[in-house]
Amino acid sequence: MTANANKKFYITTPIYYVNDIPHIGHAYTTIAGDVLARYKRLKGFQVKFLTGTDEHGEKVELAAKKAGTTPKELADKVVQRYQTLWERLNISNDDFIRTTEQRHRVAVKTIWEAAVEAGDIYLGEYEDWYCTPCENFLTDMQLDDGKCPDCAREVKKLKEESYFFKLSNYGERLIKYINDNPDFIAPEVRRNEVLSFIREGLRDLSVSRTTFSWGIPVPENPEHVMYVWFDALTNYLTSTGYPSESYKDAWPADVHIIGKDILRFHAIYWPSFLMSANLDIPKKVFAHGWWTVEGKKMSKSLGNVVDPFEVIDEYGTDQFRFFLLREVSFGLDGDFSIDALKGRINSELANDLGNLLSRSVSMILKYRDGVIPASDCKDGVCDVGLSKIFNALAEEIEAGMDALKFNVVLEEIWKAVRELNGYVERMAPWTLAKENKDKELSKVLYTLAEGLRIIALYIFPFMPDSAEKMYASLGIEDSIANTVTLDMQSGWAVVDISGFKVVKGESLFPRVE
Ligand code: ME8
Ligand code: MG
Repeated sequence: MTANANKKFYITTPIYYVNDIPHIGHAYTTIAGDVLARYKRLKGFQVKFLTGTDEHGEKVELAAKKAGTTPKELADKVVQRYQTLWERLNISNDDFIRTTEQRHRVAVKTIWEAAVEAGDIYLGEYEDWYCTPCENFLTDMQLDDGKCPDCAREVKKLKEESYFFKLSNYGERLIKYINDNPDFIAPEVRRNEVLSFIREGLRDLSVSRTTFSWGIPVPENPEHVMYVWFDALTNYLTSTGYPSESYKDAWPADVHIIGKDILRFHAIYWPSFLMSANLDIPKKVFAHGWWTVEGKKMSKSLGNVVDPFEVIDEYGTDQFRFFLLREVSFGLDGDFSIDALKGRINSELANDLGNLLSRSVSMILKYRDGVIPASDCKDGVCDVGLSKIFNALAEEIEAGMDALKFNVVLEEIWKAVRELNGYVERMAPWTLAKENKDKELSKVLYTLAEGLRIIALYIFPFMPDSAEKMYASLGIEDSIANTVTLDMQSGWAVVDISGFKVVKGESLFPRVE
């Protein structure tokens, strides 16, 4: 047990619309959440990791009509595709929420009623532009050439009776909250974006609709269904058991991981709804960047939407997980291409790490009958420089993970991998063997195995299967997932692996053509 054992950590992804099937953009956010969740569990936290599907709204209703089915049937079908994908991608979510579930209706009704109680909801009339694909209201000013500024599609004029949420009441409070909590919105460029949006002035928000019916009815007036974002954002509370008192065990969320497309909803609307209902505000909203594909925006009409199932069938789950988080800094935009994926697989996975493991295991088999030798060095430290580099990783990785700098974390790990590769070349164990320098050879083989053990622990959040395979190759019977905690095992030589019998497995990361 460590100091973190009683500390909870609650991570969420967006809940994805069921009018579309999953692509690499959805996979990206969910993989990022999973990496953080796995890391925090290794650090001893009580992690709650939530993902799910957003099943209400006009968009879903229209998609169902087009497909000649009902919204619920469409949702039931698409949700399976998401759930299957998360299994194939080794996503370790603790809950999966669907907004059509009864528990969610109860939570949404409760928070709505709390906002009514606070005097923040009133009936009025709405007349403005609406972008259905974005489910977003827009003023004349916000339109870009008469089209939606976010997705460049047609908007339509809406005039209807609607309930409004007094968002205009919250501008000052939001600005204060954001300034008092500099970590609330990340990265920083997103915080500045939100602040300047609020400073332009917030209009009251239309939070109900009467022109379609696929949604949660407004309790006091069931002619109206709730605006899909009022419904959707509340999912993060639903999963905690809200309104049951025990929701406080998990709430507030530690981080909502989202794409930058839905920042405003999470950093402006959501905290306002929560303030209105007198509930705590999440500690962080992290908005990551946008993937394009071979330099182009991913779109159905361009036919370039990348199906994650196809990518992992061809290149493997861990390879895909690694690529997405290694290729771009979390927060910036990135470009997906099969060439770039292959490049990373061959250079960093196959060459740098896969080869190192395979060579090390082969030498232990050849020179020591497969048994990891004792080092005979004081505290297991045969190479002071190398063990220092490995011991410094814990802090660097913790800082990187806490800031969601996944690519920096991977870079740190790979520096250590390259150090280990440099060490083999420098020590040339094959020469030591030829010259019968037995003691020296044992030191080198031990040091390689120990370095690989620590690397396995650190890559586990990113590539859980490969990390477990590395452990198995080193003859370690425990699984990393069940290991006590990272803090107790990641120090150099804190675990004695001498005497373990290595196993030559199949290639960890086969090269790709
Ligand atoms: O917006 N690059 O759902 P959605 C990176 N239901 N990330 C991408 C991406 C891309 N090209 N495309 C999608 C919704 N994403 C709402 C959310 S939450 C209370 C409700 C990811 O199905 C990214 O995380 O349109 C983005 O925020 C999300 O998918 C949008 O998913
Ligand atoms: Mg979208």
